[in-house]
Amino acid sequence: MENDYIEEIRQKSDIVELIGSAVNLRRRGSRYVGLCPFHVEKTPSFSVTPSMGLYHCFGCGAGGDIFSFLMEYENMTFPEAVLYLAERYGVDIPKNAHYSNSSDRERQRKVLEANKDAANYFYTRLFTYDGKKALEYFYKRGLSGDTIKKFGLGYSTKYTDDLYKYIKKKGYPDDILKDTGLFIYDEKRGTSDRFFNRVMFPILDGAGHVIAFGGRVLGDGLPKYINTPETGSFDKSKTVFALNHARKSGRKGLILCEGYMDVISLHQAGIDSAVASMGTSLTAGHAGILSKYCDQVYICYDSDEAGRKASFRAIPILRSRGIIPYVLDMSPYKDPDELIKSEGKEAFEERIRTCKNALNFQEEYIKEDYDINDPGEKTLFLKEMSKILSGFDDRLERENYVKDIALRYGVDFETLKREVNIIGETLREKTEGFYPKKKQKAPETAGIDKAQNAVLTAILERPNILGQVEKYISPDEFTEDIYRKIAGELFTLIEKGEKDLSKLLSSLESDEDRKKASEIFQGEDFSEMNGEELGKALKENILKIKRNGIELMEASHDLNGFNDLINKKNEIKRMEKERIVV
Ligand code: UTP
Ligand code: MN
Repeated sequence: MENDYIEEIRQKSDIVELIGSAVNLRRRGSRYVGLCPFHVEKTPSFSVTPSMGLYHCFGCGAGGDIFSFLMEYENMTFPEAVLYLAERYGVDIPKNAHYSNSSDRERQRKVLEANKDAANYFYTRLFTYDGKKALEYFYKRGLSGDTIKKFGLGYSTKYTDDLYKYIKKKGYPDDILKDTGLFIYDEKRGTSDRFFNRVMFPILDGAGHVIAFGGRVLGDGLPKYINTPETGSFDKSKTVFALNHARKSGRKGLILCEGYMDVISLHQAGIDSAVASMGTSLTAGHAGILSKYCDQVYICYDSDEAGRKASFRAIPILRSRGIIPYVLDMSPYKDPDELIKSEGKEAFEERIRTCKNALNFQEEYIKEDYDINDPGEKTLFLKEMSKILSGFDDRLERENYVKDIALRYGVDFETLKREVNIIGETLREKTEGFYPKKKQKAPETAGIDKAQNAVLTAILERPNILGQVEKYISPDEFTEDIYRKIAGELFTLIEKGEKDLSKLLSSLESDEDRKKASEIFQGEDFSEMNGEELGKALKENILKIKRNGIELMEASHDLNGFNDLINKKNEIKRMEKERIVV
């Protein structure tokens, strides 16, 4: 159980009013819908359920309660969100309140706070005597004072314990500082700064917390960049630089660059959808994050061979997460930073308008290795292309591309199609489950969740139907613990005559569970249905859940449950003949 005042805040706060001050919400049935503030979209997939105090986005999967909304959207820590809401809705909280699961959250908060303090410190160093050369470095590279401020760029001085001294004075204990990755702890030599005499690029997560830094030498020295090592809050393979800015861009698709400077130059020029993976090659983790914010990605890597190779590698990774990739060509310039500086924003926009779809890029890239006029080499080339074509899951899309290639290279369509399909089958067998597809579940499971969501949402919206529903299904018949738990709590609250069903949330222990709840209670909206329609819908969905339960029992080959199984099957037979009247 959570603390009483958390409960009270939940009860007294008005989630529609709170989120409504940030998002334009329109009423639809028993919910409110609007454009999701967490990703770029044109049609609303964000919805708020006031009766439960939850929000959820079908597009990007964001979801939770009032607290998580403030933490995600306003970038508050949990205690900050508590204080803010207590003030806004007039709830008194005890002076030395201890917040639920505070120890981990508190630690994490302190680590992030230390990072933020460090970023501020680096920024202020730019305007000191020592920092003059760093500030000039940025100016020389064409950055304005506003851009430097927007990205919080900075300078780590030439003294190797400058930051450490500063931050210790602020009272941070070493066990927290160790987790920032900002310092090097050495038994013999003591503690020193990881970054010194470098221009500093803070790296923020999507919500705007400083989670790491990149530091660049001012001239040509090596290593060119040093980055924060992986820490509890920094996972390189899942961090996307400048996402905190780009996700607010209204532009179509995200532009994926190689480096910090590319991204910053583009933003300065008004192309504010630019991001970069963290100096490593693109991973499925990056693609997964990107897929939450966009459907298209323009790969904008350096125009040299290394950049082209990296583009070629990134394409299937993006596709595996349901993103449509395009490739931008920066030549004759080295990278977007150079192009934007030499030719300006319009020229860059033109490259976007005339960019290649990724398949064209792949075709040309592969073709470089083969002499198409030689029949043997042409065969090898077409086999390589078939591999790529076999990766398109949509049959129509795949056939269209196969047709196009067959035509242009003068081979028989059916033959090429067969080749593509055979390769597809072998590759799928080998890599099954290797790249999990975007928001995909085993089909039956997806259906069963939908049915469970529908039943629970209907009960939430019309608690008085519980009496009828209970005749046909009990909480333990739901699949998965979280469903059983939520159903159990919901049934109990209603039976007790509780009006405020959002109390259910305080029985959920983790943010993850609350997020799941936000998804569950966004089931099909039955609020406009008449009794007969609702009864029918309930029957259909309850039957689905029960039949699935039987399948699971059968699959487990549990002989002890044999009687149970027969009983359940009979129940279903009976129910099929009945009508649910609500
Ligand atoms: P680049 O070497 O292309 O650097 O590396 P850059 O960003 O274009 O920098 P400038 O324009 O020369 O100043 C691309 C990205 O790879 C990562 C950094 O994120 C960099 O922005 N990188 C590169 C490292 O992390 N470490 C390195 O040593 C080099
Ligand atoms: Mn570069």
